[in-house]
Amino acid sequence: MSKLSEQLQEEVAKRRTFAIISHPDAGKTTLTEKLLLFGGAIRLAGTVKARKANRHATSDWMEIEKQRGISVTSSVMQFDYNGHRVNILDTPGHQDFSEDTYRTLTAADSAVMLIDVAKGVEAQTIKLFQVCAKRGIPIFTFINKLDREGRSPFDLMEELEQVLGIRAVPMNWPIGMGRDLCGIYDRMKNQVELFQGDDHSNIQVQKVEDYQDPVIRDMAGEFLHNQLCEELELLDVAGDPFDYEKVSRGELTPLFFGSAINNFGLQTFLENFLQLAPKPSTRQATEGPVAPTDEKFSGYVFKIQANMNPAHRDRIAFLRICSGKFTRGMSVKHVRVGKEIKLAQPQQFLAQDRDIVEEAYPGDIIGLFDPGIFRIGDSLSQGSEVTFDELPTFSPEIFARVTVKNALKHKQYQKGVDQLTEEGTIQVFTSTGVFDETILGVVGQLQFEVFEYRMKAEYGVDVQLQRLTFQFARWVVGKDIDPTKFRINSQLVKDKKDNFVALFENEYAMRTAMDKMPDVQFLETAP
Ligand code: G4P
Repeated sequence: MSKLSEQLQEEVAKRRTFAIISHPDAGKTTLTEKLLLFGGAIRLAGTVKARKANRHATSDWMEIEKQRGISVTSSVMQFDYNGHRVNILDTPGHQDFSEDTYRTLTAADSAVMLIDVAKGVEAQTIKLFQVCAKRGIPIFTFINKLDREGRSPFDLMEELEQVLGIRAVPMNWPIGMGRDLCGIYDRMKNQVELFQGDDHSNIQVQKVEDYQDPVIRDMAGEFLHNQLCEELELLDVAGDPFDYEKVSRGELTPLFFGSAINNFGLQTFLENFLQLAPKPSTRQATEGPVAPTDEKFSGYVFKIQANMNPAHRDRIAFLRICSGKFTRGMSVKHVRVGKEIKLAQPQQFLAQDRDIVEEAYPGDIIGLFDPGIFRIGDSLSQGSEVTFDELPTFSPEIFARVTVKNALKHKQYQKGVDQLTEEGTIQVFTSTGVFDETILGVVGQLQFEVFEYRMKAEYGVDVQLQRLTFQFARWVVGKDIDPTKFRINSQLVKDKKDNFVALFENEYAMRTAMDKMPDVQFLETAP
């Protein structure tokens, strides 16, 4: 085995690249911060939190971010823990939800689904879960805020199955809940984490025989210990056994309980997660499978972020490394363009501080300075050409008709629309009727705001957006597609590659169209 090959094996085995998926307020910022603290990547609690609350203090990002104090797009955080190199992909939430969030998930090898114990599975979690489930990546679940009153663990497990269609295998189990919470039992290691003191600040970890061990009774009291025994007996008999294969295929989710803010259950979670989460695996390319340990470097761009530094008006292309070793200054082939390019100024991210990176390996994300040569989904490779399957185009859910306020600006307008579509800021559709209409589609409202802002700031064009009532888009594939059939509560348009797309106002209209045209396929992603 060559030296490089050995080095790759070692580096790949160490890496864990994942995203945290959750509904806003479940505690993602808090959990991320605690994980970074464990890894020693930050020294002070509050660092990430402060970034969230007060981003403009250190940020030189877009004006729109300053105004809203949010991150328009996501970044990457890296730290080392117990011999692992961990990459957390930050997915923006809530108002800043956009297609970028989905695309970032394609760069992750696994996901941590964070759920508020009182709220259970919420809307945004469902969407993000579905994107991960489609890729078949392992999903780990962390039920957060156990220090508060919440729903019963069994109730939550049932909800995971009913709403998301995934069964859960509890890795640990709470002893009490809310004010009564006094510890967490680790089912895998047979140990308890007991929380002591009024504020539960003292965490004591103790090895036990099993959950019936009198040590637990002494510390938790008879009532809670009886409850723990009853619940775990039930799980032993009726619960799913741990099955690594099922976890790897995303069919079973290891379930953890804890409280991020209090550090409860976090260490167990992190250690189990790092052990069970997959290292970077083989990816599909048009030319065939690409193993991470292949010596030739390859990767793809999953996100482009504009104007991270307005002084330079630069763009950063985020590249997920899929195989080989990256070294600064190396030359690689930009497959779509067919040219060799030099990767001279790569950056790695910890929160918002940018560092120049000298070397990186599969699973890592690097930021490439982009003078306008990259598009979402572009592949870079060394030696022979490797083209990673284009990122899926996600079905938009919010639509608006766009017009230019000043017709003389039409040329700049077109340039802006083309550029912003390439970056994946918005999806553009054109009408198939007599009137030449341009319709924009997005998954999050913020994408419209970013579009409007950037058209003005970068292209000097004032646009007007008029919200449309459509809620669903489906790519329609088949022979003899008849636009007249899409008139009631729907409209037939074309995407930028001239594929037909049907827009529907409601689910009923969509079902009706599907029933009327049994020979036509209605696809959620572009063909
Ligand atoms: P997000 O990024 O998912 O939106 O959530 P974030 O971490 O900002 O957490 C949302 C709120 O939940 C915060 O409270 C945070 O302190 C709280 N939280 C996070 N983990 C726990 C936990 O384990 N237990 C309890 N009880 N609360 C938790 P906030 O009032 O919005 O902010 P702050 O004033 O505490 O900073």
